[in-house]
Amino acid sequence: MRGSTSIADEFRAKFGANPRVYRAPGRVNLIGEHTDYNEGFVMPMAVDFYCWVAISPREDQRLVICSDGFPDAAEVELNSSEIRPRKTWSDYPVGVALQLKQAGVPLRGANMLIHGDIPMGAGLSSSAAIEVATALALAEQTGHFPDRVQLARLCQKAENEFVGARVGIMDQFISLHGRKNHALLLDCRSLHFELVAIPECARLITCNTMVKHDLVSGGYNQRRAECEEAVRRLREIKPGIRSLRDVTLELLERHRGSLSEITYKRALHVVKENERVLDAAEALRTGDVERFGKGMAESHRSLRDLYEVSCAELDLMVDQANRQEGVYGARMTGGGFGGSTINLVKSRFADSFAENVASSYQKETGIVPQIDVCAPAEGAAPVALSELREQAKKQE
Ligand code: GLA
Repeated sequence: MRGSTSIADEFRAKFGANPRVYRAPGRVNLIGEHTDYNEGFVMPMAVDFYCWVAISPREDQRLVICSDGFPDAAEVELNSSEIRPRKTWSDYPVGVALQLKQAGVPLRGANMLIHGDIPMGAGLSSSAAIEVATALALAEQTGHFPDRVQLARLCQKAENEFVGARVGIMDQFISLHGRKNHALLLDCRSLHFELVAIPECARLITCNTMVKHDLVSGGYNQRRAECEEAVRRLREIKPGIRSLRDVTLELLERHRGSLSEITYKRALHVVKENERVLDAAEALRTGDVERFGKGMAESHRSLRDLYEVSCAELDLMVDQANRQEGVYGARMTGGGFGGSTINLVKSRFADSFAENVASSYQKETGIVPQIDVCAPAEGAAPVALSELREQAKKQE
């Protein structure tokens, strides 16, 4: 967590002012994939990888955004009506600033420095974390505090409209609402949520295939369009249907003939994945970790065979996980087409699991994966300078 230790110092050296620092966590989704934009259920948890934003106000209306991970800075005049995406990392914070402005938050100019600990393209939601950390930093600077649900919506809108990825609300929501030791069962229609405790006996381990995923190009937007197509067809039969959330398995099977094979497969994944999330939540509530793990395995098969968003490396990582001792369940997590798997493993086998999967994955692919035992973390928040100093000391 290098960013936590030096971001304030780096900021002072660059801008000659004392910043406020905010951080927003990445996430893993335990189950409920590609259900959020279908108004269904998801169960993510925030993880202890963060995006950090240091900020101080400027006298003018200019936003100067730097990142220690990228050479080019972005500068925009907040009053300009000519701000366009540049197809680069700064579209995330700039898009958020525009959304806040549109929502009536009286933004002022600022210098910002961004640092990310979350590996990019790993399916751990570095994009949502940069959006959320920026949104909190910019909003709090004005003394204006939109509520967290509204902030999540604004960040999602920035990604949909400015960045061009039609993502759902899961990632932004969990980055703002995460809670230590808990996953969150979220109803993406009502945005009601319930915190579900992660049992002591299990560890959650992410395995990054190192195959980068990308939500802007690729199949993500196409999957979303296929779901919308399924809804259009089924609505002709049953006009009350607003999203795949409203479709039962029975209705889908009865009208399978009205859908193309692809559309049927996508819809079948979503309908059954929603059921799996509710079942998994019940399993966690009753401490039935085995049942939870089975749901994860089914979810992976469905994402691989029906939704077709897995890839050879993710499948391999899951197969290798399933061969290890002490594994309850393994599946791809996030949008897919690369990125990471999430694994639920008996606590005492966590180390051997990480070692064995790393070496067998490397043997098979020649790629060194990144494997982390992750702790369910708190949602985005300002970071006290004393906390930054504390962490800096620990690392010396
Ligand atoms: C990405 C998106 C989320 C969600 C997942 C798939 O992470 O940002 O909104 O759709 O993919 O579950």
